Amino acid sequence: MSDARTSGLEAPVLEARGVTKRFAGVTALSGVDLVLRAGESMALMGENGAGKSTLIKVLTGVHQPEEGQLLLAGSPATFARPLDAQKAGVSTIYQEVNLVPLMSVAQNIYLGREPRGRVGLIDFRRMYADARALLAEYGIQVDVRRPLRTLALGVQQMVALARAVSINANVVIMDEPTSSLEAREVETLFRVIGLLRERGIAIIYVSHRMDEIYRVCDTVTVLRDGRVVHVGSLGDLPRVELVSMMLGRSVEKVERGGVTAFRAANESDAPPVLVATDLSRKHQIDGISLSIRPGEVVGLGGLLGSGRSETLKGLSGVMQLDRGGVTIDGKNVRSGSVPAAIRAGIVMLPEDRKAEGIVPNLSVRDNIVLAALPKLSRAGFTSRRKQDAVVDVFIKRLHIKVSSPDQLVSELSGGNQQKVMIARWLAMTPKVLLLDEPTRGIDVGAKAEVQSLIDELAHEGLAIVLVSSEVEEVVEGSARVIVLRDGSIETELRGDQVDEGALLAALAGGAS
Ligand SMILES: Nc1ncnc2c1ncn2[C@@H]1O[C@H](COP(=O)(O)OP(=O)(O)OP(=O)(O)O)[C@@H](O)[C@H]1O
Ligand SMILES: [Mg+2]
Repeated sequence: MSDARTSGLEAPVLEARGVTKRFAGVTALSGVDLVLRAGESMALMGENGAGKSTLIKVLTGVHQPEEGQLLLAGSPATFARPLDAQKAGVSTIYQEVNLVPLMSVAQNIYLGREPRGRVGLIDFRRMYADARALLAEYGIQVDVRRPLRTLALGVQQMVALARAVSINANVVIMDEPTSSLEAREVETLFRVIGLLRERGIAIIYVSHRMDEIYRVCDTVTVLRDGRVVHVGSLGDLPRVELVSMMLGRSVEKVERGGVTAFRAANESDAPPVLVATDLSRKHQIDGISLSIRPGEVVGLGGLLGSGRSETLKGLSGVMQLDRGGVTIDGKNVRSGSVPAAIRAGIVMLPEDRKAEGIVPNLSVRDNIVLAALPKLSRAGFTSRRKQDAVVDVFIKRLHIKVSSPDQLVSELSGGNQQKVMIARWLAMTPKVLLLDEPTRGIDVGAKAEVQSLIDELAHEGLAIVLVSSEVEEVVEGSARVIVLRDGSIETELRGDQVDEGALLAALAGGAS
């Protein structure tokens, strides 16, 4: 058995042949072939909008393809709905956690297949015990009777995974499973993936994080514009080559692009636009003072829980402060009020953009201009022309892949929805822009575009505070890096000190 597997002769567990999927105006997939073998761990790569999520939805019965067919262990299979795929052993975890938040953890795991007693009633005792045992296998300890929504996002994801696997899955498909996870939770996820692989379960894994791909996967299938452009093993494939295939650009061009597209802004000598003094809130941040000049990009470094996001929330009025405050151009900004901060010119791109931003049943246009509307209107009338101009600029500058600005935002790929959110905040023409993980969920090509846009905006005089868990991004993007620790400023790196080694040392707590 294992001989067959190592020699690659094992029959495919799941196969797609010539799959084509069209939406009004867009061909999302065209003639896609995919072969997945038992025990294989395949990366599915491609730019935002390349068709990855669509392919997964076809493989799991969410979408029906117009052409082509699926084969399960060599025999033709049709999944009319997700439940059919699940029953056939193909389970999935989507880009968003889609469980039932109000139900208990155990109910979520056994939804639709609850253990029942003799008269047909749900046997809660058994369900709780089973759920506990199942999660324990993955080293997850939670009260399985608690409503799912009371748990951290990462744990919710584990529950989704446990559910998927417990349905006798032999294929588990994960679409950007780590995009909402914290570092520690990512480790747990990887441990679970390791267990799945030991059991011979085949995996399809989608992520824009290269490190993860190389850690978790042994083969790769690359999609570009809905077509398969490469299939092969991953281990010996250089990253630049992978990226060049995803983007359809030459290796030389990719190499010249470097790791990030940031050119660290110069320290400017203009008077500061934003001055924050003694920002404090119990158990979150303590005595944070900083100032930023127009045109400056200041990085906020720090480990999880160091107070990076909280500092941004304090600056943007999202979080009520116990002490301290912010001025813009010397004028006090009422603290704890988002509208006041926005009026003063402070705008924040929040970390959790799905929960905090996208309005799915509005068009791309409306999602972009939503927050800027007051600025684009005069005497209560909104000028459609002005709106169109703004929308047009951002669709072009961020390369948002849409069939028209009137397309529903919910029809865009995940990464393109992210770009719409970035456009919304930029459209407000702020003085100070607070960015929390601005390139999360965005493909490597678009990432460079977002980074150079941030650069350009800084050159135009915008002051920017950048939080990113990617050390490279912080180092290359920032003229200064303020390092936080336990809610206070630990140190500040300037000029030549701004490099990865120094930042990592500062993060680890050693003096740099
Ligand atoms: N329900 C839909 N209606 C119309 N178009 C759609 C729909 N779902 C996807 N599309 C389009 O199909 C194309 C592929 O989208 P898909 O979500 O598969 O991309 P992706 O590779 O997952 O990208 P990302 O990395 O951004 O998540 C995109 O152009 C997208 O706008
Ligand atoms: Mg996607």
